Amino acid sequence: MSGHSTYEPKTGIERWLDARLPIIRLGYDSVIAYPTPKNLNYWWTFGGILSVCLVLQIVTGVVLAMHYIPHGDLAFASVERIMRDVNHGWMIRYLHANGASMFFLAVYVHMARGLYYGSYKEPREVLWILGCVIYLLMMATAFMGYVLPWGQMSFYGAVVITNFFSALDQVIPGLGSAITTWLWGGFAVDNPTLNRFFSLHYLLPFVIAGVVGLHIWALHVPGNNNPTGVSVKSKDDVVPFHPYYTVKDGFAIVVFLILLSWFVFFAPDALGHADNYVQANPLQTPNHIVPEWYFLPFYAMLRAVPQKLAGVLIMFGSIALLFATPWLDWAKVRSMRYRPTARWFFIIFIVAVLILGWCGGKLPDDVIIPMGKNPDGSPTGFSVVHLSRILTAYYYAYFLLVLPFVKNFEQTLPVPDSISAPVLTEKKG
Ligand code: HEM
Repeated sequence: MSGHSTYEPKTGIERWLDARLPIIRLGYDSVIAYPTPKNLNYWWTFGGILSVCLVLQIVTGVVLAMHYIPHGDLAFASVERIMRDVNHGWMIRYLHANGASMFFLAVYVHMARGLYYGSYKEPREVLWILGCVIYLLMMATAFMGYVLPWGQMSFYGAVVITNFFSALDQVIPGLGSAITTWLWGGFAVDNPTLNRFFSLHYLLPFVIAGVVGLHIWALHVPGNNNPTGVSVKSKDDVVPFHPYYTVKDGFAIVVFLILLSWFVFFAPDALGHADNYVQANPLQTPNHIVPEWYFLPFYAMLRAVPQKLAGVLIMFGSIALLFATPWLDWAKVRSMRYRPTARWFFIIFIVAVLILGWCGGKLPDDVIIPMGKNPDGSPTGFSVVHLSRILTAYYYAYFLLVLPFVKNFEQTLPVPDSISAPVLTEKKG
């Protein structure tokens, strides 16, 4: 970690170890003495919450893997066996499934916090990019995990997602199909697909853990941003991480775990889909294939465009924009606390993503505002797909127009001279 180490070994054994492997020094400098801005609010507790989520997913996942059988004929039954016969298997599975949902909830809050307070801006670009890599890995891991119970939604989810690649046939004929066959390990989603998804689903969380290590390293070099967006200027602006933030993070983690427990014990299937309690049947496509809630905004973007390749590109492009964010925002002021105009665009952005999520869960042709009738008597008018198009356009406009150019016509509020200034003076900045 950067900065001067303040660790002083006290006992002989500490001195001995410090001269050989200064691991206690590393821990002390990064979680005990680490100088942290003293004005961090609860939005800054989500990094800690996410770390707990990752550990929870790995621990419950490893136990599930002791009983799960990655085979097309046995996977579904093995999951039912975990639910009914394995001691506390139901709890471990529900913790893992709902834990994944809560993990995404936390990561979305964490990302929105970063966007609002400008935490991606110089000098934290690498930290942000590493976060985006983690997010991609999380999506891949969650998608493959969802396939493992081998229910109807697992199976058809795998079919839809892997088929994205076949859109490449429109660029080079044969290329897309070749890639899909390679991904499947055959000519359809089948046992080899399930096997490799299991293997990768087990592997990727450890890769995520490695990238999280880099993420935190990249955080500790420039240090935390804070709600004012003003850089740390003196020792008065910071407090040691322990006990101030260990206690604050600890409290937030407990509240978060209570929410997770509520889902696990009172509504364990609320976020799932009933069709996944039906074993995968390649000969019976469900009426309505929907991904898990945390993918719905992207699913809506995919379906907003009538042409397959364009839809896939729009969807992947929406994530590529996140990677480019540090270079798309040209405003000097970091935190939106002092940018009232940008703040409105941000709020609309969040609402747009939420409504996109709602659209992703509906059928594209579902009519929102009826304007007439089709020859068969069904209503026609402004539909989910039309709304998705408008919202997708806004999503892109936010990154490509608002972030770079809003600074040209916004009136920013006075930014305090230092982190301590708004606390020490009467008027809050
Ligand atoms: C497994 C997932 C993740 C874990 C465990 C994790 C962990 C952390 C931790 C412990 C912190 C410091 C505490 C805090 O600021 O909340 C942090 C900060 C940060 N993270 Fe993450 N993170 C994850 C994913 C992400 C993602 C997906 C992004 C963005 C795409 C991201 C962007 C950031 C940024 C910009 C900061 C600096 C915040 C600031 O100081 O203002 N992180 N992360």
